[in-house]
Amino acid sequence: MGDMSSLWHAAGPSIALDAPGERDGFDVAVVGAGVTGLTTAAMLASRGARVVVLEAREVGAAATGGSTAKLSLLQGDRLHRILGLARRDAARAYVEGSLEGMRQLRAMLTGTDALQSRTAVSYANGPEGAEALEHELVAAAQLGLPVERGGAESLPFETAGALQLADQAQLHPMAMLAELAAQLRSQGGTVVRASVEHVRVRGRRVEVETDAGSWSAGVVVLATGSPVPARGTSALLSAHRSYAAAYRTAGPLPEVMALSVDPPSVDAPSRSLRTASVGGEELLIAGGPGHAVGRHDDPRRLVAELDEWVRALWPDAERTHVWSAQDYRTPDRLPWIGARPGSRGRVLLATGFDKWGMSSGAMSAVAMVGRISGDEPDWARSLRRRGTTTVAVGRLGGMLAATSKADAVALARTLRPAPEPAEGEGALGRTGLRAVGTSTVDGTTRRVSARCPHAGFLVQWNAQERSWDCTAHGSRFAPDGTRLEGPTACPLKQLAAQG
Ligand SMILES: Cc1cc2nc3c(=O)[nH]c(=O)nc-3n(C[C@H](O)[C@H](O)[C@H](O)COP(=O)(O)OP(=O)(O)OC[C@H]3O[C@@H](n4cnc5c(N)ncnc54)[C@H](O)[C@@H]3O)c2cc1C
Ligand code: FES
Repeated sequence: MGDMSSLWHAAGPSIALDAPGERDGFDVAVVGAGVTGLTTAAMLASRGARVVVLEAREVGAAATGGSTAKLSLLQGDRLHRILGLARRDAARAYVEGSLEGMRQLRAMLTGTDALQSRTAVSYANGPEGAEALEHELVAAAQLGLPVERGGAESLPFETAGALQLADQAQLHPMAMLAELAAQLRSQGGTVVRASVEHVRVRGRRVEVETDAGSWSAGVVVLATGSPVPARGTSALLSAHRSYAAAYRTAGPLPEVMALSVDPPSVDAPSRSLRTASVGGEELLIAGGPGHAVGRHDDPRRLVAELDEWVRALWPDAERTHVWSAQDYRTPDRLPWIGARPGSRGRVLLATGFDKWGMSSGAMSAVAMVGRISGDEPDWARSLRRRGTTTVAVGRLGGMLAATSKADAVALARTLRPAPEPAEGEGALGRTGLRAVGTSTVDGTTRRVSARCPHAGFLVQWNAQERSWDCTAHGSRFAPDGTRLEGPTACPLKQLAAQG
């Protein structure tokens, strides 16, 4: 759904899964085959560890396969936002860890066509964006990054200013995952299809229960986006979905990777640009529009607006692919890379990459491999032990309030009479006391419980992706209720069609 229709999936190498072999005796079981899981697994295997990767769907099925995949430390205006939310030593640790992760990933991808060096540009459309750039320039200097003014001349439109950082990179994420999987396999590791339901620490071993049987390992790494099984982490994360598209055009393509920094508005919607070489052709990739998962009335409008924006700049642009994906944000916007409480360091997790998981996923891999091997880097320890600032606690309060409000909006929808949905549509309604979601896709009308199995909040129909998306913490489901992603390990309950 959505992410699996990305350019990268369509034009990338297909990555087969291995047959399940041994179940016991693993040093490490990694859950999730995105950038975080496969970088961690390949690094561990190269150090001689026995590793299995358990993946619920396919390699790259979630954020990594739907990413715009810029490997950059010029992340819009994010550094100055982080400095406003976290302590300076934590921000420094983030920069140091990101640089280390980027170095690691570049080294692992040397000699492949998964990575192309590019200058990264942050640009402004208006005065608020220009002010944000000034703050970002100061923040980058404080954190030791050689960000400088410039880069606007590389863009095919007027800007109100720009910053640039040379020698960053754009990735083909599925080519990257294929290379990481090959490196893992060359050291005896495997990637197996299994959806993890429970993870239990038993003495010196961790038991992993899945829909395809159990595995046991000394350490388990949860690299599942939002950690699954969730154990409370998901309530502290906000889930954000965004849309991207690839276009064929003869118009001049940007030579840089660019990201706008203005506060998103109708006049200056958030926009991200890069190019991609696929099948001997250079395509334009544009992205940016998004919303909190489950909290947009009709995301098809966002895609239509993106098309319109691209065609105003490249009138001959023909859209070849459109997709979406989601990522998670912590209250202080820094990733969480640590151990599940109570697991005595045997269940590690990495999440909260805030749409910068190419570097943060690789940074997490370096941190977790270091911790497992007994040589955790200092920056990883600082990041893990950072305290929560008052301003971040305030943001958490805002997040919780927004979750309650979204549920109340969805609840009101269940009280309205709902006609049978037209093709591609879905609607909330009620049968007796039960909140019900009804959708019609490819001519089949299906009914599911509208209560998410994770914590019981309501789902909403996403007409662009044709999925039920939870309004609370980002779990998503296919029209028949099958789990797609997010903190729940369970599907939506299927209900009989109404007679
Ligand atoms: C639209 C968009 C654009 C982005 N652009 C950029 C960018 O330009 N640069 C950048 O650095 N970052 C970007 N990001 C962020 C980046 O893509 C993510 O942070 C990163 O891919 C996360 O990788 P991951 O491996 O941690 O998680 P994922 O790629 O989400 O992988 C998690 C894997 O775990 C599997 N899984 C989940 N639950 C289970 C279970 N119960 N059992 C087994 N397996 C399970 C999933 O199927 C999935 O394959 C973007 C994100 C989005 C949404
Ligand atoms: S994802 Fe938490 S209630 Fe749905």
